Amino acid sequence: MLQKRVLTRRRSFLLGMGAFTVAGGLMHLHNRMQAIGIEQRNFTVMGDTLRDRHTPLRDRAAAKGLLYGATSSHLRLSSDKIFAAHFAQECAILVPEWELKWGTLRPSPDRFNFEPGDWLLKFARQHNMLFRGHTLVWHKNLPQWFTDKVDSRNAEQMLRQHIETVVKHYAGQVHSWDVVNEAVFPQDGRSDGLRQWPWLQFLGPDYIDLAFRTAAEADPKALLVYNDYGLDYDTWKDEAKRGAVLKLLERLKSRGTPIHAFGMQAHLRADETRFNAKKLKAFLRNIAELDLKILITELDVTDKKLPKDINVRDRLVAGMYEDYLSTVLDEPAVIAVLTWGLSDKYTWLAKEKPRKDRAPVRTLPLDARLSRKLAWNAIARAFDRAPKRDVQHRETA
Ligand code: G3I
Repeated sequence: MLQKRVLTRRRSFLLGMGAFTVAGGLMHLHNRMQAIGIEQRNFTVMGDTLRDRHTPLRDRAAAKGLLYGATSSHLRLSSDKIFAAHFAQECAILVPEWELKWGTLRPSPDRFNFEPGDWLLKFARQHNMLFRGHTLVWHKNLPQWFTDKVDSRNAEQMLRQHIETVVKHYAGQVHSWDVVNEAVFPQDGRSDGLRQWPWLQFLGPDYIDLAFRTAAEADPKALLVYNDYGLDYDTWKDEAKRGAVLKLLERLKSRGTPIHAFGMQAHLRADETRFNAKKLKAFLRNIAELDLKILITELDVTDKKLPKDINVRDRLVAGMYEDYLSTVLDEPAVIAVLTWGLSDKYTWLAKEKPRKDRAPVRTLPLDARLSRKLAWNAIARAFDRAPKRDVQHRETA
């Protein structure tokens, strides 16, 4: 009976793939599937009892000294009660998706709008979750007035004032702050690999140091993080970025900048074949040797280029989660895993990386109906197999 079910599943899997490879001609994906044995891979979550097998991600992570959480927004958590309940069940830490960015916090140069962020902090506390700050310095989601009002004469004062006001507002209540986000961009052609954008133009590379120092003074308890993306694969582009990020972190540490951790965003692609566990581990080790903790901060897996068949998509997405997490969790400096969203019902990828066939994307641990899917199993299995950390996660006041 079981054998028959497996054979039927295998047949439908091959049919899903076959239609795709013939139609799409993406043989490299077919090769990846064979290389990682995705068809045969067992995503069963182990446990002695039904209850063990259903243990939420936050508890599985906590059993290993890890933190698991996700991003969401005031809009979603306040209007969708069922989603909010799932969020509280699975997550030990909440990351505001846009409420603490300049775009929302700074409606005008002299006004701060803390309302949605405060609501999220209250939600986190009510549900026994930690709260994370994202992000103080980023080249995107700036308010419209920014270009007219910020110039080389007032830049330092504007940057300081923003960080002081926001970090003090949440002082003692934040687990960690992404102080600077995505400041490295080798394609801009600078020898230090830094992104060309207004703060750099006005203040030079020292704006990064200034941001960390100001944040440390405003909240000496928060873990201060540099956060970036595009570092995950064995491509020349990611290799160049890994080199430049490492250079930046070394420079900050050598100057005594108060930076405590590195945030690895990890926006992954399920069709990507150039995954190299050895190189990824070496990169994380280099960071750990700088005496920095590591957080996986924005994990998700796009299914944009996969065939439409849900069985095929879910297995490939889950395979990428499992391969990636089992690699990074081998590094003891990794203390947290945060997914960029919890359910396919609410993911930035639906808008930013939609599928050509317009099928709803399936990129996160829960599907759009809030049921756990293979991606959830893959994350649960990676937590269950992770070596135990000896970490005291900072309690918030
Ligand atoms: O401001 C309005 C808000 O008032 C309203 O409630 C909402 C209704 O949808 O619209 C709001 O605008 C939102 C905006 O962020 C805030 O300005 C947009 O809908 C929303 O789609 C938008 O995009 C976010 C983006 O960052 C820019 O802030 C995405 O949701 C968020 O996932 C994305 O996150 C980034 C990380 O911060 C950094 N790393 C990459 C990641 C993906 O781009």
